[in-house]
Amino acid sequence: MDSLDLQDIQGIIARGYGNLNAAAYLLLHIQDATLTKPWLAKLADQVQTSQDRPGNRCLNLAITYQGLAALGLPESSLSTFPTEFQEGMTEPNRSRVLGDHGSNNPQFWQWGGTHPAQPTVHLLLLLYARDDRQLAELVAELVEPFPASGIKLIGKLDTQPLKDEQGGFREHFGFRDAISQPLIEGLHPSRAPEHTIKAGEFILGYPNEYNLLTESPRVKPELDPHNLLPLGEFGSHDLGRNGSYLVFRQLSQDVVGFWRFLDRATQHADGSSNPDARLHLAAKMVGRWPSGTSLVQSPDGDDPSVGDKNNFAYHHEDAQGLRCPFGAHVRRSNPRDSLGPAPGTEQSIAVNKTHRLLRRGRTYGAPISDSFDPDEILTAQSPGERGIHFICINANISRQFEFVQHTWINNPKFSGLYDETDPLIGDRSPGKLGNTNRFTEPACPFRNRTHELPQFVVVRGGAYFFLPGINALRYLATLA
Ligand code: HEM
Repeated sequence: MDSLDLQDIQGIIARGYGNLNAAAYLLLHIQDATLTKPWLAKLADQVQTSQDRPGNRCLNLAITYQGLAALGLPESSLSTFPTEFQEGMTEPNRSRVLGDHGSNNPQFWQWGGTHPAQPTVHLLLLLYARDDRQLAELVAELVEPFPASGIKLIGKLDTQPLKDEQGGFREHFGFRDAISQPLIEGLHPSRAPEHTIKAGEFILGYPNEYNLLTESPRVKPELDPHNLLPLGEFGSHDLGRNGSYLVFRQLSQDVVGFWRFLDRATQHADGSSNPDARLHLAAKMVGRWPSGTSLVQSPDGDDPSVGDKNNFAYHHEDAQGLRCPFGAHVRRSNPRDSLGPAPGTEQSIAVNKTHRLLRRGRTYGAPISDSFDPDEILTAQSPGERGIHFICINANISRQFEFVQHTWINNPKFSGLYDETDPLIGDRSPGKLGNTNRFTEPACPFRNRTHELPQFVVVRGGAYFFLPGINALRYLATLA
């Protein structure tokens, strides 16, 4: 395999910047591309690469299809991008695939949606710093030249500190997150073959899990007279090499609704709360305990000593889903070795490797309870807005992100289940997918069923972005 050109690959692919606790995302609209291109040329020098660990702060940049068009990329190149990127996240057929109807409908989104009054998102600046003060300085420095660079700031999406007091990354329902990530071959030390994925699944220009090059956008040689881009297929120049795609979804979490529902569903006969049963049902829905411990490894109770363990599979350990239900969020979003036609084999893992996601999101909105204590959450007075800025990186949006969202998370017919979606984040819109508001836990002698799950997660915004290599960014800044 070619060694990875780390100098040219944006740093967010190699790392989640765990040392940079503060982050913000700026959504930008290009008003005058002739002014924006010199700004972009300068910014390209500041973009963090995958070569080095960042110091106190860093930035990355991603561009929508409309952003590429606004910069002047000609139609002959725009048309070489994959259809899902060209159409964008809110195209009606994509909304159907993603479950974006009902309360998720893009017409209600706060950004990136279809409401005519919303400005089109062209650029996404991802900013990271060690602390809030350094982040504020970075934001101020970057925003200052926007008016003179023909750029309008559409929105600033803030995030919560990455790590809680225990040094873990917790999402708002109270569960440790970002434990299970794919390891990129040639980039991350390969400790676990089952999680080690060919670079081409996440970076364009390298072989993917099919030993092929993932489709990459191109430009005609005459449009790159200074040969800024490497040679690509069919005598073209390769605009995609060392780039990828970044999927962004702002997902709002109804944390009070989540714990109230679980409390009601598990009450004792006299109507009093049953905290153990409540936690147990929550863990069954996630597939991990709050510390992160997998239900496969510790089915009866949390064991924080193995909270960060990821060396488990499902078929041999838990073929019937008695430990981790088939419908649990983590088992749906990564079924590991349980995919047919030969579950439990190398072949099953090989299929699974073609649908992995590199998650890089962060939470937003203050937690209701700093200790994530369900009893405190249940009595919260002013719930407020909070959730996850879900970010994932993949070389093929349709085969990776869209497949996971559509065929696993929101599929009522998944792994022998036939009438339910992901209990944590699934779409429950009536009428579209049938009755999808229940959750099944396989158990002996009888399965347990929880009914009438409300929708706990609602989409507030989102877009598909191209995450170019650094050379490609420089090329885009030279467009006529
Ligand atoms: C508010 C929304 C979400 C919440 C609260 C949430 C929560 C979690 C939690 C607690 C974990 C376990 C930690 C870990 O295994 O790393 C997890 C894992 C995961 N989630 Fe989510 N998630 C959300 C949205 C999504 C979405 C939209 C997707 C993809 C479309 C997704 C895909 C995954 C994947 C692939 C894993 C790793 C599973 C594994 O490899 O075992 N999540 N999530």
